[in-house]
Amino acid sequence: MFTTALAQQTRTRDDLLPKDLFAAIEVLKQELNAVILAHYYQDPDIQDIADYIGDSLGLAQKAAATNADTIVFAGVHFMAETAKILNPDKLVLLPDLNAGCSLADSCPPEEFAPFKAAHPHHVVVSYINCSAAIKAMSDIICTSSNAVKIVNQIPEEQGIIFAPDRNLGRYVMEQTGRDLLLWEGSCIVHEIFSEKKIVQLQVEYPEAEIIAHPECEPNLLRHASYIGSTTALLKYCQTSPREVFIIATEPGIIHQMQKEAPSKCFIPAPPINNCACNECPHMRLNTLEKLYLAMKHRAPEIVLSQEIRIAAKRPIERMLECY
Ligand code: 13P
Ligand code: SF4
Repeated sequence: MFTTALAQQTRTRDDLLPKDLFAAIEVLKQELNAVILAHYYQDPDIQDIADYIGDSLGLAQKAAATNADTIVFAGVHFMAETAKILNPDKLVLLPDLNAGCSLADSCPPEEFAPFKAAHPHHVVVSYINCSAAIKAMSDIICTSSNAVKIVNQIPEEQGIIFAPDRNLGRYVMEQTGRDLLLWEGSCIVHEIFSEKKIVQLQVEYPEAEIIAHPECEPNLLRHASYIGSTTALLKYCQTSPREVFIIATEPGIIHQMQKEAPSKCFIPAPPINNCACNECPHMRLNTLEKLYLAMKHRAPEIVLSQEIRIAAKRPIERMLECY
């Protein structure tokens, strides 16, 4: 009680939130000539105010094409960094600068540099879920929607380092028949699903189809009848004749699935514990309030050293040129 009162007293008058955040954000959007880009793992109200909602590839493509002066990135740090690398002269805002990514963190540049140096004849294909410093050490970037396509474009005799996600890497190996040298990184969210509980759910709902993101562990992926990026999973649910789906990815995507197919039933894949740890703790740091404040204060903004930014740009462009 006391702390709440104190917090209210110390909050500056300027930071009092407007009653209608949606309307206030619309006004700021005009003032800043801003575009709001959001990932499917964001809270529903952020998805509802966004100009574009997409997977990592779609978001990078939108960031590359926008005429807006300001990009408000409702996603995690590596996504906003990608937007900044592609738009060095624009203001790129991230509502909460602490919105990181366990997968990106699992590949520290100071550890990756000697790993790469030990395999000087390999090309480096990096999943977009990595820091700008790792992108700067890569030959080409991929996302979960195009990893198979990008690896298939590389001559067969060429050795490939694939970083940082070992689960996506294993999936790509299976799909392409290529032998990739994997970095042993992973995502805390996609590793938390319980195979046992998913199998039990399938028994309970025999008509349900299990669909999964390729960041999931192989033991889980083998139960999935469809594997794809968040956008691919969304499209699959729309077009499939099935009515019930068990969704093995971050449950934020279910907001769009329900909007696109309101008569269908979407069951989030359960985690091993009785927790909400299938929700990405990094993505969920962004809130509508923080998004409003970021636009109001033009901060926090993404800032990158010129050296990293320039080195990281070419591998991203190579991926975008595939389309
Ligand atoms: P996509 O956006 O490629 O589906 O990847 C999901 C994810 O984990 C983003 O962090
Ligand atoms: Fe990173 Fe996993 Fe969160 Fe995606 S879901 S942002 S990979 S921690």
